Amino acid sequence: MTNFTTTQSGAPLASDAHSLTTGPDGITALHDFALVEKLASFNRERVPERNPHAKGGGAFGEFEATEDMSAYTRAAVFQQGAKSEMLLRFSSVAGEQGSPDTWRDVRGYALRFYTTEGNYDIVGNNTPVFFIRDGIKFPDFIHSQKRLGGSALRDADMQWDFWTLSPESAHQVTYVMGDRGLSKSWRHLNGYGSHTYQWINSEGERFWVQYHFKSRQGVELMEAAEAEKLAGSDSDYYRRDLYEAIERGEFPTWDVFVQIMPYEDAKTYRFNPFDITKVWPHADYPLQKVGHYTLNRNPQNFFAEIEQAAFSPSNLVPGIGISPDKMLMARVFSYPDAQRNRIGTNYNELPVNRPHATEVTNYQHEGQMRFNYPDASARVYTPNSFGGPAADPARASEGRWESDGELVRAAQTLHSEDDDFGQAGTLYREVFTEESKARFLQTLAGQYGALTVPAIKDRFIWYWTSVDSGLGAKLIEAVKHGDIASADPVGVGE
Ligand code: HEM
Repeated sequence: MTNFTTTQSGAPLASDAHSLTTGPDGITALHDFALVEKLASFNRERVPERNPHAKGGGAFGEFEATEDMSAYTRAAVFQQGAKSEMLLRFSSVAGEQGSPDTWRDVRGYALRFYTTEGNYDIVGNNTPVFFIRDGIKFPDFIHSQKRLGGSALRDADMQWDFWTLSPESAHQVTYVMGDRGLSKSWRHLNGYGSHTYQWINSEGERFWVQYHFKSRQGVELMEAAEAEKLAGSDSDYYRRDLYEAIERGEFPTWDVFVQIMPYEDAKTYRFNPFDITKVWPHADYPLQKVGHYTLNRNPQNFFAEIEQAAFSPSNLVPGIGISPDKMLMARVFSYPDAQRNRIGTNYNELPVNRPHATEVTNYQHEGQMRFNYPDASARVYTPNSFGGPAADPARASEGRWESDGELVRAAQTLHSEDDDFGQAGTLYREVFTEESKARFLQTLAGQYGALTVPAIKDRFIWYWTSVDSGLGAKLIEAVKHGDIASADPVGVGE
């Protein structure tokens, strides 16, 4: 036989089906190392799921920079004509690995560009804003969206308690309770970098940017009743849809745009541009096309290439930096820390995580599962006298900004038009269609119906009245008449 099984050390196995026992009906031998190895391997198959964004799926593709962005960034990936291999992972935020794809939620939208200057990740969502604006609140936010400690059940009171006590959430919650909370598929949603990032050109000039990824498939919603049905009948609906579309040769494409703000504008712009709960209205900073990408290749192995993919806002390249957004600064620490725990110290050596279009050269050394190593003669320290690599600040082109303040714990500075509810109200009044508004009201009424604590119910009404007084009045009417029978039950808990 030429096609035979082996132990992990490569020796032929005697059986795939029978353990070693003292006679056919006897006890099992501990020295059956083939059995022990097989069970031990099985017992270690799972790595901890992501916390949050555990449920997802993704595919590889190619990005092409079609426009001249050299006035704004020197990043090789965004120079006109550059093509880069890429990976995109979509996800839900709150649900666990086996959770239904069509529960109402924000969708994660994590991009990786394998560039000639290192891997560049944009880890965003299908909404341009977020629930909170300081990373110190993030664990509380996620706890409130997952499960109660005792019953391990999801709980509308807990979610709305957190949201209504954190009114900076109103803009994002308006998105989630609206049509963006239930997409037709992952192919039919837009992505956003959400945060403000910095671009630096070859002259060292700096700009603030926001990314937008617009689906050529269109942005389409799923009706709540359909989502609820699918949550029960096909919990992998979005994952299946993406995988099967790519297998059929229907490759989804997104156009990449940026809004660009001159560096100095940030100080006086009417909204604090480093507040992730806000957007920059397009009238102030129009969208500028950068290029497009197409997903054209399913993973060969979901675990190796999607589950072990370690996206991080700290994966930056020359000509691109972060901004003084408190959420983003916290994330830059948090993701690699989570991944060392979730996957292991040397997670960046795995094929999906290591750079594909450049080399890794540094003096990081050893650690669990390290298998990449330099020449025997290479020094393991720097500086050295043996021609080893050294940092090149001119090549790195890091993001920078001025900061000479005293250390404080304080809310970020409000700009002239900053408040918690204003942009949420604009979204409701000026962006939602009449049909969207009707669905939104029904969803909110359904959410109200799931609340049991009077103080949270009162705050719920106050919250939406603060977003829009007309909406508040309609909501009071709807819940007074018990008009919640056909509300969106899958929304409860997301
Ligand atoms: C301070 C705030 C935040 C913290 C501490 C945080 C933390 C985390 C952690 C620990 C993970 C799991 C990473 C892993 O195990 O690989 C994760 C995943 C993720 N987060 Fe955040 N997050 C924050 C805010 C945000 C924001 C504002 C966005 C979007 C704009 C976002 C989008 C995502 C996405 C898309 C994933 C899944 C990435 C993937 O597909 O692997 N997060 N987050």
